[in-house]
Amino acid sequence: MSISLPTPNIAHLTEEDYEHVYEPAEDSFILLDALELDAQLIRDDQPTICVEIGSGSGIASTFLSQLVGPSSSLIISTDINRYACEVTLRTAQANEISLNPILCHLLDPLLHRLKSNIDILVFNPPYVPTGMTELMDTQNQRDIGGAWAGGQDGMIITDVILDKLPELLSPIGKMYLVTVIQNKPLEITRKMESKGLVCKEIIKRRAGRELLSVLRISRI
Ligand SMILES: C[S@@+](CC[C@H](N)C(=O)[O-])C[C@H]1O[C@@H](n2cnc3c(N)ncnc32)[C@H](O)[C@@H]1O
Repeated sequence: MSISLPTPNIAHLTEEDYEHVYEPAEDSFILLDALELDAQLIRDDQPTICVEIGSGSGIASTFLSQLVGPSSSLIISTDINRYACEVTLRTAQANEISLNPILCHLLDPLLHRLKSNIDILVFNPPYVPTGMTELMDTQNQRDIGGAWAGGQDGMIITDVILDKLPELLSPIGKMYLVTVIQNKPLEITRKMESKGLVCKEIIKRRAGRELLSVLRISRI
């Protein structure tokens, strides 16, 4: 039986917030839909450590927290943008859950501790193909531009994590990754399979000019 969960409340966020923080859009919602499709699977696994990279408004971290329920799961969210960390905290409070967003590049300060420990990893990355200068500028500015600029094939930031994924996932670990067709999801699948992981497109949708999908990458 499928599980249906309410979309987190983000009514507290203002136009001013969205000048600096990514406003949830179709890519955010396809990620929530993918998590909802897998809700029973995720609950059955009883995940202990769940991580979102690039939490933005906090909508996906909040949804994940509500999905796993008041359990012993720890939800860690990171973002490179300090406004996003503040907004994630406010979204958590507005939805009466607890999150402790960490301001950092990807998972940098946590890598050592998270090795082989991540049960659920969620990432809606900056996936838009751009030049390298735009990628580097937006990563350095740590503001709204960092929400989409993804460098070559839109994959430069995502690849950093994919290369480390085999070391990060726990034995039951699963990553949910948002992609667009320009990211070459088939190539991602081949690459992850060559690292001994299983990669499956669990949902696909056209949104305007974007062909979005969510890949589930797991050990089993
Ligand atoms: C497409 S937005 C997704 C936001 C939110 N998760 C959602 O689904 O609506 C990408 C997010 O990744 C963050 N981000 C970009 N580069 C990052 C990095 N190097 N480390 C951590 N977060 C990063 C951006 O600041 C932005 O909040």
